[in-house]
Amino acid sequence: MNNFEYCNPTRLVFGKGQIAKLSQLIPADAKIMLTFGGGSVKKNGVYDQVTKALSQHTFIEFWGIEPNPTVETLRKAVELGLKEKVNFILAVGGGSVLDGTKLIASAIAQPEKDAWEIVRAGKSCKYIPFASVMTLPATGSEMNSGAVISRTETHEKYAFYSTYPVFSILDPETTYSLPEHQVACSLSDIFVHVMEQYMTTPGQSRVMDRWAEGILLTLVEIAPKIKANPTDYDLRCDYVLCATLALNDMIRMGVTQDWATHMIGHEITAFTGITHGESLALIHCSLLHVLREQKKGKLLQYAERVWNITEGTDDERIDKAIDATRNYFRSIGLRTSLTEANVGQDVVEAIVKRFKEIGAKHGEAQNVDAEITRKILEQAK
Ligand code: NZQ
Ligand code: ZN
Repeated sequence: MNNFEYCNPTRLVFGKGQIAKLSQLIPADAKIMLTFGGGSVKKNGVYDQVTKALSQHTFIEFWGIEPNPTVETLRKAVELGLKEKVNFILAVGGGSVLDGTKLIASAIAQPEKDAWEIVRAGKSCKYIPFASVMTLPATGSEMNSGAVISRTETHEKYAFYSTYPVFSILDPETTYSLPEHQVACSLSDIFVHVMEQYMTTPGQSRVMDRWAEGILLTLVEIAPKIKANPTDYDLRCDYVLCATLALNDMIRMGVTQDWATHMIGHEITAFTGITHGESLALIHCSLLHVLREQKKGKLLQYAERVWNITEGTDDERIDKAIDATRNYFRSIGLRTSLTEANVGQDVVEAIVKRFKEIGAKHGEAQNVDAEITRKILEQAK
């Protein structure tokens, strides 16, 4: 196991009716900016719950943070926040609203910098405090310090790191209104978050392995049940908690990480607009196939412990595990090949070209460069 430090300061406030606690969680004298997406929170009653809880607070509203939040939109929020001198931001919505809020919070604290400059620096050490009411279990953004920001004019999408939300309220009932496709994308995103931290080198940590496998097994179990019973509260609780635990630093203590599927997936989204979770489903199995020698030990462990595959040669078991993974994505309703998703050769070339230009080296062995990426994309057709 590698050395590590772990410090996750986000207060999680979980369960039914917990949005009402906002009144106590935010200082009474704060000047708040509420940030929102395109309006789902008005339809499902979350907006009413939030504004009721904050009736004694002072707040302004910023609407229109889109899925895959763009720096172009976020600059407008920064301008408003600076003009109104806000000193606390509450993101209400999905991961995009919260990721966007992380950038707004950093840019307000450094008005001399352009927001894109902060993203490209990769790390921001200045920010005003922010928190979330998270309505979409997927990104783990509610309990991590990362954010992924897009730039429309150049088709770019990059992650940067700032700090953790002060608190995040997770009421599983707020997720009942999610469209089925969005649930599918989120179940894919959560699954791949775990895989990116697990499917590397075997024998680094028994406890990290079993934590990861526990989340994967839970997802495989609940995915069909959620589809059949979309308003079962206990199922929703497990779904929400899987998302948070998958990407709140807990399952990666002292172990190597991959993230190549995400890096390629971000490019696919940047060039095509395909939803994040589905972009991962398009290429993850192909990445496992191309890197099967390097990941052999872990693939065999995964085959046995997650899919109960114990018969056959090593190669046969690995094939079966990759097939089972693809079937998981398909069973939740996602496409699993570039052809099926109408992602053409032009996109493949554009991604390879960019990876060449920036000298990309992704994955736990830092060997997923432009050429390996081409192999993965060709295999994903
Ligand atoms: O915009 P509104 O109207 O609110 O609708 C949203 C949006 O259209 C809707 N939605 C959210 N909660 C809902 C709901 N609709 C009905 N009922 C609800 N309860 O869902 C749509 C998608 O929302 P979005 O926030 O874009 O989805 P998600 O949470 O999956 O976030 C995706 C973004 O997060 C990034 C992705 O790259 C992408 O940009 N990621 C962030 C990470 C992080 N911060 O650590 C890690 C991830 O790997 C990921 O890259
Ligand atoms: Zn993701």
